[in-house]
Amino acid sequence: SVRARGFSHSKLILIGEHAVVYDQPAIAIPFDAVSAEVTIYPKAGPVELISDFYQGRMTDLPTKMQGLKEIVSATCEKLHQQVKDFSIELTSTIPIGRGLGSSAAIATSIIRGLFNYFERDLSLKTLRDLVDVSETYAHGTPSGIDREAVINDEPIWFQKGELIEPIELSVPLNIVVADTGRIGDTHLAVTSVKDRLQEAPLATEQSFDKLGKLAREVRTLLKTGELTQLGERLVKAHQELKALGVSDPGLDHYVEVSLLNGALGAKLTGGGRGGCMFALCASAEATIGVEAALKNAGAKETWSFQLTSGVMTH
Ligand code: PMV
Repeated sequence: SVRARGFSHSKLILIGEHAVVYDQPAIAIPFDAVSAEVTIYPKAGPVELISDFYQGRMTDLPTKMQGLKEIVSATCEKLHQQVKDFSIELTSTIPIGRGLGSSAAIATSIIRGLFNYFERDLSLKTLRDLVDVSETYAHGTPSGIDREAVINDEPIWFQKGELIEPIELSVPLNIVVADTGRIGDTHLAVTSVKDRLQEAPLATEQSFDKLGKLAREVRTLLKTGELTQLGERLVKAHQELKALGVSDPGLDHYVEVSLLNGALGAKLTGGGRGGCMFALCASAEATIGVEAALKNAGAKETWSFQLTSGVMTH
């Protein structure tokens, strides 16, 4: 009978990754150049999952896809529905393991899709609880910023244990994102920072403090629209993340290339050690040269977009 859909954009962490795990504030923005979408429709028998990366029944999902199964089971339980008699078609253009929030976005699209399919309203609280099921599965002890960045449609100010605050932009942000094409294992990166904190507590805590301070400054600069200064803070944050050991030569090179080609600032985004970086540009026009330079430097994929108070054009 009815087909239902569920959608989720991906996200970028503008500033504050890693330090956010240690209670510092961070800023994340929606990124909809890549997204996850599901279509759910009736089909007699065990639930089928049809996707680019997996086709089969929920009962025979390989271990690395168990998170999806958990999400479907937990959502059906919440809906008082049995896990049978429907198919889920999942399409995601979000590259996996690149710090773009692919796992949280896929979970969000499935949860939204199932609530639509069973014609039930989905509260933000229920969505949060259900996304957490898969995030804990995928990441161990996430700060929760991925989840919030993905379920909110506007830039957010995030601090562990505090209410999310939406951030209004006074000027549009012109951004180029580049994918190194290399998996950045967030779990490993977070563990390496934890080890560093044990080995060099003072220096590491100083880095967290600096990243927190930079996040506060960026928040103010978003309000005043001083993009040149904002760009400088992004570069400082990248250097601090490098000091924490979560950058790599490829990411450093892309940051360099962006700055040489006129970007106001650039940094890695997400867990690091591979994954993605982004560059902030002065105008939509300025993104063209930066994007071309990043492609030239070997980026696997690049995206340009403009963010204006949560509404994106690209
Ligand atoms: O999932 P990623 O790669 O965007 O990383 C999330 C941000 C971290 O601060 C590195 C981890 C976390 O749980 O906040």
